[in-house]
Order: sequence, then structure tokens, then C-alpha cells
Amino acid sequence: MLTPASRLLLKDESLSVRPFLLAMLDPILTKPWHNVSEWFQNDDPTPFDTAHGRTFWDYAGHEPRLNDFFNEGMASDARLVTSVVVKDCKGVFEGLNSLVDVGGGTGTVAKAIADAFPNLKCTVLDLPHVVADLQGSGNLKFVGGDMFRAIPSTDAVLLEVN
Ligand SMILES: C[S@@+](CC[C@H](N)C(=O)[O-])C[C@H]1O[C@@H](n2cnc3c(N)ncnc32)[C@H](O)[C@@H]1O
Repeated sequence: MLTPASRLLLKDESLSVRPFLLAMLDPILTKPWHNVSEWFQNDDPTPFDTAHGRTFWDYAGHEPRLNDFFNEGMASDARLVTSVVVKDCKGVFEGLNSLVDVGGGTGTVAKAIADAFPNLKCTVLDLPHVVADLQGSGNLKFVGGDMFRAIPSTDAVLLEVN
């Protein structure tokens, strides 16, 4: 029998997190686990850097397959979380005129919030290669940039970067 949790792994489940699981099990993301002992003895910031010789975000910016499966994995995870946030945490967003989802990926969370709160101006800030092909509409827009350099002025910042 499938349990409520294992149902989330089905491809056709509306809140499926299968893309997240497939992303986490891709060899690009499992390889760093084999470099942990080496990483303990060097100065690299993460085991990913030790395994691949560059940061995850740099790799994703140059490898479209990684960029695509990672963003889709994040979006599936976000769909599940957002289904609860928008329904049960409405009060958090009341009274706000603007919100920036920093590191908001392909905009799954911001779009759900923008749809639920039509008067709230929502902006997704993410790295240029993540938002390059995305079009906003209505009260949702996408901005490419680096959160360590600048974040658009706003009433509230949503920061969920796992
Ligand atoms: C773990 S993902 C989370 C995505 C999204 N918040 C969600 O919950 O689905 C982290 C996000 O931060 C973005 N990111 C990483 N470094 C960034 C930076 N310096 N400036 C802006 N976004 C960045 C990544 O591209 C990625 O979309």
C-alpha cells in the first residue's frame, strides 16, 4: 500500500516531489558525498567544490541539464510547501504592498502568492541564468541579479533557500 508520504513520489500526483528526489539522486549531486573526507582536510567551502572544482551555482550556470533538473526539483518542493502556506498562513501577507522572493527560483512560490493576493506586487530575484527565459505578468515580475549585491526595495523579503 502507498502511504500519504510515498504517494508524493508518483509522477501523476498533483503535489509530486519526484523531480526533487530525482535531482538529489543525480550523480552530479551524489558525487560530493564521496568527497567528504577529502573536504574535511582542505579549505574548499563545500564538498561540491571539492568534487567538481567550482561552486554549485557556477556549475548550474554553465550546464543547462543541471540548471533544468535542479530548478524543476526546487519547483516541485515549493509546490508542496506553498499549497500549505497560501492556505493556512494568509495573515502573514495581509497589509503588504510588495514582496521580493529572494532566490525564488522559477517563481513557483511567488506566482502562488501573487495569484492569491492580486494587490501584492511580487518580484522573484534569482541568478540571471535561472530567470533568463521567464516572463512575468500582472503582479508578478522576474529580476536577474545577485542577492549579495542588491535586493529590490520592498515591504517584505521571502528568503527560502534551503
Ligand atoms: C535551494 S534553491 C531554492 C529555490 C526556491 N526558493 C524554492 O524554495 O523553491 C536556492 C535558489 O537561490 C538561487 N541563488 C543562489 N545564489 C544566489 C544569489 N547570489 N543571488 C540570487 N539568487 C541566488 C538559486 O539559483 C536557487 O534558485
